Amino acid sequence: MGAVIKAQNISTSYRTGFGLKEISFEIEEGSFVCITGPNGGGKSTLAKVLNGLVPLEGGSLEVCGLDVSDVHNLPEIRKNLGLVFQNPDNQIVSVIVEEDVAFGPCNLGLPLDEVKKRTARALEMVGMTEYAASAVSSLSGGQKQLVCLAGILAFRPKIMVLDEITSMIDPVERNKILQIIKGLVEEQGITVLLISHRFSECLAADRLLYIENGSLVADGNPRQVLSAALNEDEGRKSNA
Ligand SMILES: Nc1ncnc2c1ncn2[C@@H]1O[C@H](COP(=O)(O)OP(=O)(O)O)[C@@H](O)[C@H]1O
Ligand SMILES: [Mg+2]
Repeated sequence: MGAVIKAQNISTSYRTGFGLKEISFEIEEGSFVCITGPNGGGKSTLAKVLNGLVPLEGGSLEVCGLDVSDVHNLPEIRKNLGLVFQNPDNQIVSVIVEEDVAFGPCNLGLPLDEVKKRTARALEMVGMTEYAASAVSSLSGGQKQLVCLAGILAFRPKIMVLDEITSMIDPVERNKILQIIKGLVEEQGITVLLISHRFSECLAADRLLYIENGSLVADGNPRQVLSAALNEDEGRKSNA
């Protein structure tokens, strides 16, 4: 299996001054990679760069062999790489739960039967079947996050980028979501990039990227990357 994402020296810059600084990495097809690091470090920016929502200032980026800086490639890239935003309110497009989950597969032009099957299955996987006909506005933040996860499960892209999708979800549900992610990777060969602050999620991944101040400061075995980050933090405190 080859690399489905190839990022070479990618840089970005917002008008406010913040930017990603020459980040390079490759992601193997079918791997489970976690991305972590302090708030404001650039994790969500990187997620948005991957599907062309934030433009590149420098470097090169390929997703499934397609150049992300060529706008003509973006529709195909977005079919292959699905992104769940950190804030569910930025993701949800419909008033009713099942309509929102069906939005992605509908846009793929699938037959209605298939859309319904995928929607029902996705809602069942995240434990939200009983809310299928509910108004999204009546749900809690955590339930909205589950609806967003169901949306990408129904869409079934080859690569899923999940940005802090468990931030408002309780520990029992969080563990279920981790099991869903492992199933996607191990049984369906889906590539998952999970952005998370949680040790349990970082440690469950095959590989961990640590992003701080717009730079990729560590990339490798999750346990080693986390212990290096902890040591560095301890060092900073004792020098302070
Ligand atoms: N659309 C934007 N315009 C300007 N600055 C932004 C924008 N989005 C994020 N930022 C800034 O970029 C920095 C990195 O943000 P972000 O990528 O969301 O980090 P993280 O996800 O690691 O917390 C922060 O300082 C944030 O305020
Ligand atoms: Mg973020």
